[in-house]
Amino acid sequence: MSRNAWWNAKGRAADTSGGPVLVTGASSGLGRECALDLERRGFEVLAGVRRVEDGEKLLARSSRGRLEYAIIDVTDEESVEASAEFVRSRHPGLRGLVNNAGIAVSAPLETVDSATLRRQLETNVVGQLAMVRAHLPHLRRSRGRIVNITSGLGRVAIPYLGAYAAAQFAKEALSDALRRELATSGVGVSVVQPGAIMTPIWGKISALADDALSSAPPAVAAVYRASFTAFLKANAGAAAESTTTPQQFADAVARALTDSVPRTRYRVGPDARTADLLSRILPDRLLDRRFAAVPPTREEWEKAGPVPRPDDRTPWPY
Ligand SMILES: NC(=O)c1ccc[n+]([C@@H]2O[C@H](COP(=O)([O-])OP(=O)(O)OC[C@H]3O[C@@H](n4cnc5c(N)ncnc54)[C@H](OP(=O)(O)O)[C@@H]3O)[C@@H](O)[C@H]2O)c1
Repeated sequence: MSRNAWWNAKGRAADTSGGPVLVTGASSGLGRECALDLERRGFEVLAGVRRVEDGEKLLARSSRGRLEYAIIDVTDEESVEASAEFVRSRHPGLRGLVNNAGIAVSAPLETVDSATLRRQLETNVVGQLAMVRAHLPHLRRSRGRIVNITSGLGRVAIPYLGAYAAAQFAKEALSDALRRELATSGVGVSVVQPGAIMTPIWGKISALADDALSSAPPAVAAVYRASFTAFLKANAGAAAESTTTPQQFADAVARALTDSVPRTRYRVGPDARTADLLSRILPDRLLDRRFAAVPPTREEWEKAGPVPRPDDRTPWPY
C-alpha cells in the first residue's frame, strides 16, 4: 500500500494525495476528532485553530507526523487569506476543505439581538463561504472536495434553535448552489449532517443561552424562562444519551473525501436521518405539532399581557 493510500470500505485504496485536507474548527469536538482521524488514514492534514496552544495540543496527538496547524478565524478575512497563502506557499494544492467551524446560539428568537444573530451567521455562513472563495484555486488544482458540516437542523427549524437553524439552512443552500456551480470544475461538494453528538458545543450552548435570557427585557425573559429552561435540559439530555460518536462523524467526512462519486449528503446518527425524513414527508402543520409542547403556555403569555382569544382575528397562535 502506498504511503498516500488507505483502504476504504470496499477494500480499494483511496487516494490521499494532492495536498492536505484543511479542517476548520479543529481545536475541539468533531473537528479535532476528524483532523486526527484523517491523519491516521494517511492524509496530510492542515488543522485550523484560533489559538497556538490548541494547535500545539493537536500536534502532541499527531500519530504520523502528517499534521500541521494554521491559525484561522473564519470571521476574519485576513486570517482566511493568510491560510490560503500558507497553502499556496507550501503545498501543490488542497485535497479537501472541511468547513466544520461553528457556534450554536440557542435562545427564543425574541431574545436574540442583532449582534448575536450576526455572530451566528458570520461564523457558520459568511466565514464558510470566505474559506471556500480563498481556497477554491487550490482545490481546483487537486480536483479536491469541499465538505460542509451542517446539522439535522439544516432541515427542520426547531423552536429555541432558530438562529442556529437559520445558519444551517443557509449553509445547506450555499452547498447546493456551489455543487451545481462547480459541477464541471472537478471539485466535489458534499454536506455532512450530524445529529446530536456529545462535544463541548453543548456546554457552550448553555452559556450562550444564559446570556440571552439575562440580556433580554425582564418581562420577555419571564415569559420564556420556564419553557426554555425545560427545552435546554431536554436537549442536553438527548445529547448526553446520544449513541452517535465523533468517530462516526469522522467516517462520514472520510467517505465524502474519498467516495469515487461523493454523495450530496451524508447523515450521521438516527436523529439526523429522522429530521431529514420528517422534513420531506410531513406538512408544516403536522411538523408544528411535534414541537407543540416546547413554547410557553397560554397562561405564561397571558401573564405578560393580553393575548387574543382563539375566536379573535386569526386563530391563535398563528
Ligand atoms: N456536536 C453536535 O451535536 C453537532 C450536531 C450537529 C452539527 N454540529 C456541527 O459540527 C461542527 C463542530 O461542532 P462541535 O460539536 O465539534 O463543536 P465545538 O466542540 O464547540 O467545536 C467548534 C469549533 O469551531 C471553532 N470555531 C468557533 N468559532 C470559530 C471561528 N470564528 N473561526 C474558526 N473556528 C471557530 C471552535 O474554536 P474555538 O475552540 O477557538 O472556539 C471549535 O474548534 C459545528 O459546525 C456544529 O454546528 C455539531
